[in-house]
Amino acid sequence: MDLSLSEEQQQIVEMTREFAEREVKPIAAALDREARYPRELVERMAELGLLGIEVDPEYDGSGFDPLSYVLAMEEVSTACASTGVIMSVNNSLVCDPLVKFASEEQKQEWLRPLARGDKLGCFMLSEPNAGSDAAAQKTRAVRDGDSYVINGVKNWITNGPQADTGILLCMTAPERKHRGITAFIIDMNAEGVERGPKDDKLGIRASHSCQIFFTDHRVPVAQRLGEEGEGFKVAMSTLDCGRIGIAAQALGIGRAAFEFAAEYATTRTTFGKKIAEHQAVAFMLADMETELDAARWLTYRAAGQKARGQRHSKESAMAKLYASEAANKIAKNAIQVLGGNGYITEYPVERHYRDAKITEIYEGTSEIQRVVISSWILKGR
Ligand code: CAA
Repeated sequence: MDLSLSEEQQQIVEMTREFAEREVKPIAAALDREARYPRELVERMAELGLLGIEVDPEYDGSGFDPLSYVLAMEEVSTACASTGVIMSVNNSLVCDPLVKFASEEQKQEWLRPLARGDKLGCFMLSEPNAGSDAAAQKTRAVRDGDSYVINGVKNWITNGPQADTGILLCMTAPERKHRGITAFIIDMNAEGVERGPKDDKLGIRASHSCQIFFTDHRVPVAQRLGEEGEGFKVAMSTLDCGRIGIAAQALGIGRAAFEFAAEYATTRTTFGKKIAEHQAVAFMLADMETELDAARWLTYRAAGQKARGQRHSKESAMAKLYASEAANKIAKNAIQVLGGNGYITEYPVERHYRDAKITEIYEGTSEIQRVVISSWILKGR
């Protein structure tokens, strides 16, 4: 297995590392403290081509491969996990299903502005009573002539407060259970779509999420994404890609916590020597870097499967499961290395710890990733 990066991939790393270091990192703590949406950074990501990384240039994207997306996500998330997830949702949960399932007319109208970053997208699957059990959709779309009328509520929608365009999953035929779910492209500023107040969250506070309410919202049939009843497959295959992005986000958070702790451990002294020279601390650092590398290779493997056009549900779930749990453990131990300084907001590791938690929850909890992985084992693969 060749793990070296191509020249183009190395350039992506350099470009996103410079952006992250110079423009994102200096304001990340303030963004978190103020729970402020980083509009200026989102505009810069659009200029740098980071909002439609894998979309073909024919549709105004950057035309890079899935590994380039992973590399960019890791760099941006190292500086600010909130900025990372804003980018991830637009790329994996919105552009990706449009690339895969939209008609040519839909791509021209909806994909182009999203890939350019002129518009921002959100993905509306979760509901108050349909989180892990994604098939339990209550939001209803009823066909009426050349349109559908939609009623229902969506929950915890990342980018919801700012999004111009949304991918919506809802029921068109409840009696058919998951086979009765259909996907739609939604104009988020249209009549009958309302946004609730932004959620007050533990971490990724600069990335905003909210409830979305649909009240007799009328969508033309031309905005149906795929066929009636295909929505569950649209959602699941979208999440196969999304989970690679969240694994990369977790890698970035874990790396930031590890690098800060490693640097701190070589400057702080106790009992007459640097704390890194105490085996208790040195072993923590050893475990952190080992776990980061393991998470990185799992994530690269999933991206490689995607690049080759192979099914990667199991590999994406393994990457997200491992990387998110590693990021949580690393951030927790980074606080331990810093001791009292790790617990105060003057140092960034408490933010990394709070930011890491969501990676074990969204786009499928760790328990759901284990369901996906074990189902493939039981299928003999
Ligand atoms: N690709 C294509 N099709 C798939 C698929 C995939 N990855 N996974 C399942 N399917 C198909 C199956 O083949 C099956 O098809 P048939 O009807 O033809 O047999 C069908 O879907 C049903 O599959 P399951 O029986 O496995 O479905 P299930 O109801 O048991 O659910 C689950 C499976 C894995 C638990 C799923 O519900 C799941 O992933 N839940 C978690 C949802 C989730 O990740 N939510 C995150 C919300 S988005 C978010 O978090 C965004 C954000 O804020 C950043």
